[in-house]
Amino acid sequence: MPNTTIDVIFARRSVRAYTDRRPDDETVDLLARTALAAPSGSNSQPVNVIVVRNSALIREAEQAVIAYFEKQGETAVLDRIKSRNNKVFYDAPVSFFLAVKNKSAADVGIAAENIAIAAASLGLGSVILGLPGVIFNDPDTAAHWKSRLGFPDGYEFGLAVAAGYAADTGKAHSIDLKKISYIF
Ligand SMILES: Cc1cc2nc3c(=O)[nH]c(=O)nc-3n(C[C@H](O)[C@H](O)[C@H](O)COP(=O)(O)O)c2cc1C
Repeated sequence: MPNTTIDVIFARRSVRAYTDRRPDDETVDLLARTALAAPSGSNSQPVNVIVVRNSALIREAEQAVIAYFEKQGETAVLDRIKSRNNKVFYDAPVSFFLAVKNKSAADVGIAAENIAIAAASLGLGSVILGLPGVIFNDPDTAAHWKSRLGFPDGYEFGLAVAAGYAADTGKAHSIDLKKISYIF
Protein backbone atom coordinates (compact mmCIF):
# COMPACT_ATOMS: atom_id res chain seq x y z
CA MET A 1 0.00 0.00 0.00
CA PRO A 2 1.68 3.31 -1.05
CA ASN A 3 2.18 5.59 1.93
CA THR A 4 3.93 8.92 1.53
CA THR A 5 4.94 9.23 5.18
CA ILE A 6 6.63 5.83 5.24
CA ASP A 7 8.38 6.56 1.92
CA VAL A 8 9.71 9.86 3.29
CA ILE A 9 10.95 8.23 6.50
CA PHE A 10 12.94 5.67 4.53
CA ALA A 11 14.17 8.22 1.96
CA ARG A 12 15.49 10.75 4.52
CA ARG A 13 19.23 10.79 4.98
CA SER A 14 21.75 13.24 6.37
CA VAL A 15 22.75 15.78 3.74
CA ARG A 16 26.20 17.38 4.05
CA ALA A 17 26.31 19.49 0.87
CA TYR A 18 23.82 22.14 -0.20
CA THR A 19 23.11 24.26 -3.26
CA ASP A 20 22.92 28.07 -3.04
CA ARG A 21 19.15 27.99 -3.44
CA ARG A 22 17.52 29.46 -0.36
CA PRO A 23 14.28 27.91 0.92
CA ASP A 24 11.51 30.53 0.97
CA ASP A 25 10.29 32.12 4.21
CA GLU A 26 7.05 30.15 4.24
CA THR A 27 8.89 26.82 3.98
CA VAL A 28 11.35 27.75 6.72
CA ASP A 29 8.55 28.87 9.02
CA LEU A 30 6.63 25.67 8.35
CA LEU A 31 9.68 23.58 9.27
CA ALA A 32 10.14 25.55 12.51
CA ARG A 33 6.51 24.90 13.40
CA THR A 34 6.89 21.14 12.88
CA ALA A 35 9.34 21.13 15.82
CA LEU A 36 6.68 22.70 18.05
CA ALA A 37 4.13 20.14 16.86
CA ALA A 38 6.28 17.31 18.27
CA PRO A 39 5.03 15.33 21.24
CA SER A 40 6.79 16.00 24.58
CA GLY A 41 6.80 14.40 28.00
CA SER A 42 3.76 15.56 30.01
CA ASN A 43 3.17 17.98 27.13
CA SER A 44 5.94 20.10 28.67
CA GLN A 45 6.89 21.55 25.26
CA PRO A 46 10.43 22.35 26.47
CA VAL A 47 11.87 23.24 23.06
CA ASN A 48 12.33 26.75 21.61
CA VAL A 49 13.34 27.03 17.96
CA ILE A 50 15.84 29.68 16.89
CA VAL A 51 16.05 29.93 13.12
CA VAL A 52 19.39 31.25 11.84
CA ARG A 53 19.59 32.37 8.22
CA ASN A 54 22.64 34.60 8.70
CA SER A 55 25.52 32.77 7.04
CA ALA A 56 28.17 35.02 8.62
CA LEU A 57 26.89 34.09 12.08
CA ILE A 58 26.90 30.39 11.19
CA ARG A 59 30.47 30.60 9.87
CA GLU A 60 31.51 32.26 13.13
CA ALA A 61 29.84 29.48 15.13
CA GLU A 62 31.53 26.89 12.92
CA GLN A 63 34.95 28.42 13.61
CA ALA A 64 34.17 28.49 17.33
CA VAL A 65 33.27 24.77 17.28
CA ILE A 66 36.55 23.94 15.53
CA ALA A 67 38.47 26.18 17.96
CA TYR A 68 36.89 24.28 20.86
CA PHE A 69 38.11 20.90 19.59
CA GLU A 70 41.55 22.37 18.85
CA LYS A 71 41.71 23.70 22.42
CA GLN A 72 40.75 20.25 23.74
CA GLY A 73 43.22 18.50 21.41
CA GLU A 74 40.44 16.21 20.19
CA THR A 75 42.18 15.06 17.03
CA ALA A 76 39.67 12.35 16.12
CA VAL A 77 36.83 14.89 15.94
CA LEU A 78 39.06 17.41 14.16
CA ASP A 79 39.99 14.77 11.57
CA ARG A 80 36.31 14.02 11.01
CA ILE A 81 35.53 17.72 10.57
CA LYS A 82 38.55 18.06 8.24
CA SER A 83 37.28 15.14 6.16
CA ARG A 84 34.09 17.16 5.75
CA ASN A 85 35.90 20.22 4.29
CA ASN A 86 36.18 21.81 7.73
CA LYS A 87 32.43 22.22 7.84
CA VAL A 88 30.14 21.78 10.80
CA PHE A 89 27.00 23.33 9.26
CA TYR A 90 27.89 22.34 5.67
CA ASP A 91 27.01 25.79 4.22
CA ALA A 92 23.31 25.02 4.66
CA PRO A 93 21.21 28.15 4.05
CA VAL A 94 19.21 27.71 7.25
CA SER A 95 19.95 26.22 10.66
CA PHE A 96 17.35 25.54 13.32
CA PHE A 97 18.77 25.65 16.83
CA LEU A 98 16.67 23.77 19.36
CA ALA A 99 17.11 25.33 22.78
CA VAL A 100 15.68 23.24 25.57
CA LYS A 101 14.95 23.47 29.27
CA ASN A 102 15.19 20.65 31.80
CA LYS A 103 17.65 18.66 29.66
CA SER A 104 14.78 16.96 27.87
CA ALA A 105 16.96 15.05 25.39
CA ALA A 106 14.16 12.81 24.15
CA ASP A 107 11.89 15.78 23.47
CA VAL A 108 14.66 17.57 21.55
CA GLY A 109 15.38 14.51 19.44
CA ILE A 110 11.75 14.10 18.50
CA ALA A 111 11.47 17.79 17.57
CA ALA A 112 14.63 17.55 15.45
CA GLU A 113 13.36 14.49 13.63
CA ASN A 114 10.07 16.27 12.91
CA ILE A 115 12.05 18.98 11.09
CA ALA A 116 14.16 16.40 9.24
CA ILE A 117 11.16 14.36 8.07
CA ALA A 118 9.17 17.46 7.15
CA ALA A 119 12.15 18.83 5.19
CA ALA A 120 12.47 15.55 3.28
CA SER A 121 8.74 15.61 2.52
CA LEU A 122 9.16 19.07 0.95
CA GLY A 123 12.15 18.03 -1.16
CA LEU A 124 14.77 19.57 1.12
CA GLY A 125 17.79 17.91 2.65
CA SER A 126 18.80 18.26 6.29
CA VAL A 127 21.22 17.00 8.88
CA ILE A 128 20.75 16.86 12.63
CA LEU A 129 23.76 18.38 14.42
CA GLY A 130 25.01 17.65 17.91
CA LEU A 131 28.57 18.95 17.49
CA PRO A 132 27.68 22.66 17.77
CA GLY A 133 26.65 21.95 21.37
CA VAL A 134 30.25 22.27 22.57
CA ILE A 135 30.27 26.06 22.24
CA PHE A 136 27.05 26.33 24.28
CA ASN A 137 28.40 24.04 27.00
CA ASP A 138 32.00 25.19 27.37
CA PRO A 139 32.03 27.63 30.33
CA ASP A 140 34.47 29.83 28.36
CA THR A 141 32.00 30.43 25.51
CA ALA A 142 28.52 29.33 26.65
CA ALA A 143 27.24 32.71 27.84
CA HIS A 144 28.46 34.43 24.68
CA TRP A 145 26.82 31.97 22.29
CA LYS A 146 23.57 31.65 24.24
CA SER A 147 23.30 35.43 24.17
CA ARG A 148 24.22 35.69 20.45
CA LEU A 149 21.43 33.29 19.59
CA GLY A 150 18.98 34.73 22.09
CA PHE A 151 18.45 31.60 24.17
CA PRO A 152 15.79 32.30 26.81
CA ASP A 153 17.08 32.19 30.42
CA GLY A 154 17.53 28.65 31.68
CA TYR A 155 17.62 27.09 28.21
CA GLU A 156 20.46 24.89 26.98
CA PHE A 157 21.53 23.76 23.53
CA GLY A 158 19.64 20.61 22.56
CA LEU A 159 20.40 19.99 18.89
CA ALA A 160 20.60 21.94 15.65
CA VAL A 161 19.19 20.95 12.28
CA ALA A 162 20.79 22.36 9.14
CA ALA A 163 18.60 22.34 6.04
CA GLY A 164 18.47 23.41 2.43
CA TYR A 165 18.36 21.99 -1.06
CA ALA A 166 20.69 19.01 -1.35
CA ALA A 167 23.73 19.20 -3.61
CA ASP A 168 24.64 15.67 -2.66
CA THR A 169 21.94 13.22 -1.70
CA GLY A 170 24.24 10.90 0.24
CA LYS A 171 23.50 7.28 0.91
CA ALA A 172 20.92 5.70 3.17
CA HIS A 173 22.51 4.01 6.17
CA SER A 174 22.16 0.25 6.22
CA ILE A 175 19.52 -1.20 8.48
CA ASP A 176 20.16 -4.30 10.59
CA LEU A 177 16.84 -6.07 10.74
CA LYS A 178 18.23 -8.35 13.47
CA LYS A 179 17.67 -5.41 15.79
CA ILE A 180 13.97 -6.11 15.68
CA SER A 181 12.70 -8.87 17.94
CA TYR A 182 9.20 -10.02 18.74
CA ILE A 183 7.61 -11.44 21.85
CA PHE A 184 4.23 -13.10 21.38
C1 LIG B 1 21.65 13.30 17.94
C2 LIG B 1 22.36 13.36 16.62
C3 LIG B 1 23.49 14.16 16.48
C4 LIG B 1 24.14 14.25 15.24
N1 LIG B 1 25.19 15.10 15.10
C5 LIG B 1 25.78 15.24 13.90
C6 LIG B 1 26.81 16.22 13.70
O1 LIG B 1 27.16 16.98 14.58
N2 LIG B 1 27.37 16.30 12.47
C7 LIG B 1 26.97 15.50 11.42
O2 LIG B 1 27.50 15.65 10.34
N3 LIG B 1 25.97 14.58 11.58
C8 LIG B 1 25.38 14.45 12.78
N4 LIG B 1 24.35 13.57 12.94
C9 LIG B 1 23.91 12.76 11.79
C10 LIG B 1 24.33 11.29 11.92
O3 LIG B 1 25.70 11.18 11.64
C11 LIG B 1 23.48 10.47 10.93
O4 LIG B 1 22.12 10.54 11.32
C12 LIG B 1 23.89 9.01 10.88
O5 LIG B 1 25.20 8.89 10.35
C13 LIG B 1 22.94 8.16 10.02
O6 LIG B 1 22.86 8.66 8.71
P1 LIG B 1 21.48 9.16 8.09
O7 LIG B 1 20.99 10.35 8.91
O8 LIG B 1 21.82 9.57 6.69
O9 LIG B 1 20.51 8.03 8.16
C14 LIG B 1 23.68 13.48 14.15
C15 LIG B 1 22.54 12.68 14.29
C16 LIG B 1 21.87 12.62 15.50
C17 LIG B 1 20.61 11.80 15.61
